[in-house]
Amino acid sequence: MFSPRKLAVALPGLCRWHRCHVRHLRPVSKLSVREALASAETPSEEIRVQGWVRSVRSQKEVLFLHVSDGSSLEGLQIVAEPHLKNSALSFGSSVEVTGSLVRSLHKKQSVELKASDVKVIGRCDSHEFPFKLKERHPPEYVRQFPHLRCRTKTFSSLLRVRGAATSAVHDFFQTNGFLHIHTPVITSNDCEGAGELFKVEATHWDRGSGDDAGFFDVPAFLTVSGQLHLEVMSGGFSRVFTFGPTFRAENSQSRRHLAEFYMVEAEISFTESLEDIMQVMENLFKSTTSALLSQCPEEIEFFSKYVSPGQTDRLDKLVTSDFVTMTYTEAVEVLKRSQKLFRYKPEWGCDLQTEHEKFLVNHCGDVPVFVIDYPYDLKPFYARDNEDGPQRTAAAVDLLVPGVGELFGGSLREERMDRLQSRLETLGLRDTYQWYLDIRKFGSVPHGGFGMGFERYLQCVLGVENIKDVIPFPRFPHSCLL
Ligand code: 4AD
Repeated sequence: MFSPRKLAVALPGLCRWHRCHVRHLRPVSKLSVREALASAETPSEEIRVQGWVRSVRSQKEVLFLHVSDGSSLEGLQIVAEPHLKNSALSFGSSVEVTGSLVRSLHKKQSVELKASDVKVIGRCDSHEFPFKLKERHPPEYVRQFPHLRCRTKTFSSLLRVRGAATSAVHDFFQTNGFLHIHTPVITSNDCEGAGELFKVEATHWDRGSGDDAGFFDVPAFLTVSGQLHLEVMSGGFSRVFTFGPTFRAENSQSRRHLAEFYMVEAEISFTESLEDIMQVMENLFKSTTSALLSQCPEEIEFFSKYVSPGQTDRLDKLVTSDFVTMTYTEAVEVLKRSQKLFRYKPEWGCDLQTEHEKFLVNHCGDVPVFVIDYPYDLKPFYARDNEDGPQRTAAAVDLLVPGVGELFGGSLREERMDRLQSRLETLGLRDTYQWYLDIRKFGSVPHGGFGMGFERYLQCVLGVENIKDVIPFPRFPHSCLL
C-alpha cells in the first residue's frame, strides 16, 4: 500500500465541511506507478501519476495508454475519453495523468487510472526514437544507446534488480556484523601486482605549479581492489567489507571483463581456515540471491522468459544446493581426464581459463564450485603459503558459478613476517610495502577475505551473456560513451 505524498498543486473541489459551494484547494496525491498498482480503488479521490508512455491505443469511444515510471515492471493502464487525445501523445513521450483509480477488468492489474486530465510534459518523436513500440531489440542494438536504454523493459528491470542486489549485499554484511569501510578510489598501490592499472594525473598541474613531480608526489592509480585497505582496517575490526568501483586496464573485449566494475570485498580477522572464508562467500551468494527471488520475482520471471529461459529454476537450484569443493590439483586432473578439446591445454601451474571453469561447473552438476589451493606462483604476494612443499600451493580460493565461471577470488593472507618479507624482497616490493609489513608487526592476526565481481554476480543470477548489459555505463577498451 502506498503512503500518498500530497502535492502542493491542488484541484478545486466542493467543500464538504462547510456544506457550501465555496471552492477549496484539495491536494492531489502523487503516486508512483508501483504505488498506484498496489493501491485500492479511489473512485472519489483524484491521484496523479507521472511517467513515460509505453503504448497508445485510440478507439472511437476510449483512449488507452500504458504509462511506466521505472518503479515496476508493469505499467499502469490509463483509460481516458477520446477528447483527451493529444497529437503529442506517442510512445516515449512523458506525461502527467490525473484521475481516479477504478477497478480494472484487465487480468494483469486490479486497478486502472480513469483519467480526467492527460498532460504531455515532453514530446518524443517516435520516428527518431531508437526503440520501437512492441519490438524486442537485441542487446547489441540497445547497447548503442546508453543515454536512452533505461527506457527499455529489460534494462529498467536490470536496474531494479541491481538496486535490490546492492541493498541485499549491504543487508547481509550489516546483519552479520561487518563494518562498511569506504576504501579509496585513488591509491598508490597495485594490490594484485598484475600491472593492469589506470594512472591518475591532474591535468594542467605541471603548468600551474611549475614542477613536474605530479599531484601526489608519488605515482597514483585507480584502485584494482580495496583489499589492502580492508586489511589495514582488519587490524582494528574483526569483520569489514567494502563495495565500490574497481578499475582494471585489461585489454579484454570478453563477455565478463570491464575496465570499470563494482567489487564486493570482505576481510575477516582471527581465522586460520579457508573454510571460514568460503562459508561467508556461500552465505553472501545465497542470502543475496534469496532476497532477489523474494523482492524482484516479476523481474526474474521476465529474464527467465525473454533473456535466459529456465533461469528461475536455475536460481532456485543455486540457493538450495550445497556448493562443491575441489583442489586446484583435482580440477586439473578432471580437465585432463575429460575428452573435451580445450583451446588452452590444461596443465598444473597454468591459470584456469573460462572454458575450464565452465567445464568444471558443468562436471559438478551445474552448482557453484570452490577451487582451492592454487599454485603459489599464480597468486599475488599476499596469499598464504600452504607449506605443502617448497612454495607449492597457496591458501587461495576461487568460486566458479554456472554461466560465468569465476565469480569470487579470495585467500588467507600471509601473516607470518618472515615469509612475507622474503616474498616481497623476491618481488622487489619490500620498500613499497613497508607499511604492510608494519601491520604484521603490531598485533597481527591471521586473517583472510575475498572479492566478488558484482556485475558477474548479476550475469549469473539473471542469465545475461554479456557483462556490458548489467552495468549502467560500461567502460571497456576503445569505449567510454558518455
Ligand atoms: O580475483 P580478483 O582479482 O581478486 C581480488 O582483486 C582480490 N584482491 C579480492 C579480495 O580478496 N579482496 O577479483 C575478484 C573478482 C573476480 O572473481 C571477478 O568476479 C571480478 O572480481 N573481476 C572482474 N569483473 C569484471 N571485470 C573485470 N575486469 C574483473 N576482474 C575481476
